[in-house]
Amino acid sequence: MAGLIHPLWLRITHWLNALAVVVMIASGWQIYNASPLFGEVRFPEQVTLGGWLAGALLWHFAAMWLLATTLLLYVVLGLASGRLRSKLWPLSLRGAARDLRAALRGELDHSDLGRYNMVQRVCYAAVVVDLVLLLLSGLVLWKSVQFPLLRDLMGGYDSARVVHFFAMLFLVGFIAIHVFMSLLVPRALLSMIRGA
Ligand code: HEM
Repeated sequence: MAGLIHPLWLRITHWLNALAVVVMIASGWQIYNASPLFGEVRFPEQVTLGGWLAGALLWHFAAMWLLATTLLLYVVLGLASGRLRSKLWPLSLRGAARDLRAALRGELDHSDLGRYNMVQRVCYAAVVVDLVLLLLSGLVLWKSVQFPLLRDLMGGYDSARVVHFFAMLFLVGFIAIHVFMSLLVPRALLSMIRGA
């Protein structure tokens, strides 16, 4: 289709991924509350999912397959089609700082939705790496005995918990800014739904 910005596979993986991530975070907070890593930090019951530890674990384990599948499809189809390279490459932190300054002054150009600015590129690439880190550290927490190498790479079971927690915090920060930004540019939101 002429003028297509986001192919169908991307939109499907994006929205299923968003659903999986929301379920993972809300159920993860419930799991966390059953045994807080930082005694004083607890998540309000209203924003948790599952009702109690066992219920939350069921949600967490169900959504993890959806998250892993959509992430894998996004990366594999993105690499195979060359889209990942053309949209997110090259990356430049200096360019991201420049675009961030322009955005804060309200001078960033959003006329071409098919081209990501450097802040978007860096953020999207970072969140993909963050999701991989979340899955790998989660794998250590879930099957610690079966993945000894991965556990050691994370610095042991306890530090895998810390990695998992801070990777979650990064993800929550990303989502807050990402959703805010897409509401600021409604055309971008529509294109992620309609494709064009
Ligand atoms: C309900 C919440 C969400 C909304 C409203 C939303 C909206 C959007 C929109 C409008 C775009 C189009 C690109 C743009 O112009 O910025 C986009 C792209 C993207 N979003 Fe989201 N998003 C949401 C959740 C998420 C979540 C949870 C993740 C990952 C954890 C995510 C990761 C991405 C990535 C990686 C891209 C770039 C995709 C590509 O073109 O390769 N989004 N999102």
